[in-house]
Amino acid sequence: MTVEYRAGLEGIPATQSSISFVDGQKGILEYRGIPIQELAMQPGNTFLETAYLLIWNELPNREALAEFEHEIQFHRRLKYRIRDMMKCFPESGHPMDALQACAAALGLFYSKRALDDPSYIREAVVRILAKIPTMVAAFQLMRKGNDPVQPRDDLSYGANFLYMLSEEEPDPIAARIFDISLTLHAEHTINASTFSAMVTASTLTDPYAVIASAVGTLAGPLHGGASEEVINMLEEIGSVENVRPFLEDRLTRKDKIMGFGHRVYKVKDPRAIILQQLAEQLFEKFGQDKYYDIAVELEKAVEEKLGHKGIYPNVDFYSGLVYRKLGIPTDLFTPVFAISRAAGWLAHWKEQLAENRIFRPTQIYTGLHNSPYIPIEKR
Ligand code: ACO
Repeated sequence: MTVEYRAGLEGIPATQSSISFVDGQKGILEYRGIPIQELAMQPGNTFLETAYLLIWNELPNREALAEFEHEIQFHRRLKYRIRDMMKCFPESGHPMDALQACAAALGLFYSKRALDDPSYIREAVVRILAKIPTMVAAFQLMRKGNDPVQPRDDLSYGANFLYMLSEEEPDPIAARIFDISLTLHAEHTINASTFSAMVTASTLTDPYAVIASAVGTLAGPLHGGASEEVINMLEEIGSVENVRPFLEDRLTRKDKIMGFGHRVYKVKDPRAIILQQLAEQLFEKFGQDKYYDIAVELEKAVEEKLGHKGIYPNVDFYSGLVYRKLGIPTDLFTPVFAISRAAGWLAHWKEQLAENRIFRPTQIYTGLHNSPYIPIEKR
């Protein structure tokens, strides 16, 4: 039997899943069947409700949500030993590397591998969702030489993260927009980091190793790291007038334009549409950002040049502008993505365990056979 090889496993199903659905031609994204616009723009929806929906496949009632929120609040703090470990990290290190190390370190404290015990699954979900924002904020303050701020129990998930970063209670509109952006990034079928989480999960290792593996995969510039690159690119462009010369130059050199293109979407990513609206709301309330005009002009120019190839803004194109306006430092954009995507990784971890078979794909061997060993003195 000849097996067709497709680079990047493009178009090859790696699993069966009921967590999310994408139609890349129509620009549809659904979480457990609910269209993303419908879910994210509901005044009552929060990121934690979204996480519950993704992980337990139902919208929680009032009591279930309150209990989940309470558990998360209770587990937000970090052990002193994790904070001590973070003190040894170089300030110049990337926050994604710090997060990956801290996520793995959680396994030293909480790993039991009781994967058939629903209470252990719940405990791991809660600990991971509760502690990732605290770890990201703690690294941010500690690398500036400050002590981390304790989480505040009276603040929502998103508001508490912004508070731990800036030591100031955020404006309610800013906190709400941040929470929506967490919902938008929470899940996206079998992308690279989710696949990485699933492969790791399939060995029945502990959930902290699953998350650490996914964080490492999300960090790359072709995946979650793109939002950071987008802001660097907009800064490099510098002015609306320079958009087209910049684009020409990049395309001549066959460089990718960050924040554009997607393996699945061949139209504008539905999350980019919402994030653009959120960015506009933020600018209306807190003042304009000159990089937004550059971004809009770049979107126009890229569409003219590459629209025929299905290259449109992806989720990372406008998310950086939203985060910038919320006062989040550029190199924390990907860790913020990880805070949110942890919900999707955990949903896939749980789904993988329910019908597990270890991932063990095959390969098409392109090397030699029966080669002679050459002694070192003859090489
Ligand atoms: N800028 C310019 N051209 C592009 C871009 C881009 N951003 N993306 C794709 N293309 C072109 C390619 O050059 C190629 O053209 P060709 O057929 O003439 O050779 C064609 O479109 C197909 O591109 P591939 O790279 O083969 O598409 P693939 O599905 O492998 O890659 C990816 C998708 C990695 C997202 C790619 O579009 C990219 O590198 N984008 C920039 C980085 C980025 O924004 N990543 C974030 C993605 S969203 C996320 O991960 C959360």
